[in-house]
Amino acid sequence: MAFPLLILSFLTLFIAYKLFQRFRFKLPPGPRPLPIVGNLYDIKPVLVRCFTEWSQVYGPIFSVYLGSHLSVVVNSAELAKEVLKDNDQQLANRNRTRQIAKFSKNGSDLIWSDYGPHYVKVRKLCTLELFSMKRLEGLRPIREDEVTSMVESIFKDCSKPENEGKAVVLREYLGMMAFLHITRLTFGKRFMDSNGVIDGQGEELKAILHNGIKLGTKKSWAEFLPWFRFFFKTENQLLAEHDALADSFTKKIMQEHTLARHKTGNTKNHFVDALLTLQKEYDLSDDTVTGLLWDMISAGMDTTTITVEWAMAELVRNPRVQQKVQEELDRVVGSDRVMTEADIPNLPYLQCVTKECFRMHPPTPLMLPHKASTNVKIGGYDIPKGATVSVNVWALARDPAVWKNPLEFRPERFQEEDIDMKGTDYRLLPFGSGRRICPGAQLAIYLVTSMLGHMLHHFTWTPPAGMKPEEMDMMEQPGTVTYMRTPLQAVPTPRLSADLFKRVAAGNV
Ligand code: HEM
Repeated sequence: MAFPLLILSFLTLFIAYKLFQRFRFKLPPGPRPLPIVGNLYDIKPVLVRCFTEWSQVYGPIFSVYLGSHLSVVVNSAELAKEVLKDNDQQLANRNRTRQIAKFSKNGSDLIWSDYGPHYVKVRKLCTLELFSMKRLEGLRPIREDEVTSMVESIFKDCSKPENEGKAVVLREYLGMMAFLHITRLTFGKRFMDSNGVIDGQGEELKAILHNGIKLGTKKSWAEFLPWFRFFFKTENQLLAEHDALADSFTKKIMQEHTLARHKTGNTKNHFVDALLTLQKEYDLSDDTVTGLLWDMISAGMDTTTITVEWAMAELVRNPRVQQKVQEELDRVVGSDRVMTEADIPNLPYLQCVTKECFRMHPPTPLMLPHKASTNVKIGGYDIPKGATVSVNVWALARDPAVWKNPLEFRPERFQEEDIDMKGTDYRLLPFGSGRRICPGAQLAIYLVTSMLGHMLHHFTWTPPAGMKPEEMDMMEQPGTVTYMRTPLQAVPTPRLSADLFKRVAAGNV
């Protein structure tokens, strides 16, 4: 008898609270929530498509309840400006799920930290130290090494007689490149030997990342039903184990670098050395140093793989654009050498292609959710303190009221109008805008442009035999980051002489 009574009291409390909110606040309209589950029953797996459909029904700003948690989604450039500029500071907190709270040591890092003195300090460190132009320049050899190494491995595979004319699964190469690049930039080590074999420590790291993704994507009702969290003991234990493994891995790497620095007296450009040498000056706890290192891995790995996979899919579907980029590369770089990042300023059409890819396929289409630290008004509606606010940057960049033929992949639009994608033009926000804008934006733009340039200079790409471009699956996979639902397969045909497919190794940067 006691249990049903308990449930009944919870239900009554919940309904009373919702009614109180409804009368106290003028909340944005939205689909009708059910008690306890809110709108979870009605949400379609590819969240960004579902939210874009709902914005057609309820308007450019709407409410959605994830369980009992209020989330507000904005879907127009004007409202994005209200969120990310006019009310930037009040909407700069983060909502931490159980898993994230555990892994980020309750926001001791950057990504999951609330806005406040800790955030300001760590963000300053990122801007002035980790992502300064000088450091990005110093890290350039690592990027060029990993991009050319990827090209070499595609060439080796597609040149095998048994693979002639066969398609490759591009994600395998892009994913490996992104893994090697970001872990090298962060942990200061290449976890693959010269024979292309991942070493023991690299396997350990891959296992930690794999486990993190598995725990992160596991749908847990406990997340949305906080009253029942005590039922989820096993999950809490798994999270604690994962956390301990990642911590011990990071500690070992930090010790190795500290020893090497003491021995040689040299500080390298990568992030572990940078953070350890700046730890005292910025008064960073060990948890913050560890948290920052893992932030870079989680924010900088899938995002680049996803962007380049979508970009290559668009280029396979649009041979006209592919050919135009190749003509530009042949004119500027020629066919006697490989492209380098120094060529990018002289490749304006390639830069437009990169922008068009970020417009059509931002890898984090709802950005990362922001949280209100106080009551604010957006679009004339109330956003109560504690609510989550998401900006649908996918919808902004496909809004027919703002973009001509938005569903057409046409890089020329950026030759006709110079539109910024680093947070000043609210029509195009793949990296967000305002205080929480992606600090890795410039690094990501260099990397994506360089990857695309190399792939198109070295190879011509066509659909697998028998597949028409219009038959390619251009739908997204569910998730916070939106991979292609079907991994892209394409046939590479080399277009430069064989000696130009060699990895340009960087040495110890
Ligand atoms: C294709 C590449 C990338 C895209 C599209 C992208 C996009 C984004 C977006 C939308 C946010 C959230 C902004 C907000 O909450 O308002 C973000 C945050 C962040 N990104 Fe990126 N990102 C990319 C690559 C990278 C790389 C390569 C790194 C670092 C190596 C990085 C590091 C971060 C960090 C640390 C944050 C958290 C910033 C904060 O909370 O203050 N990102 N990124």
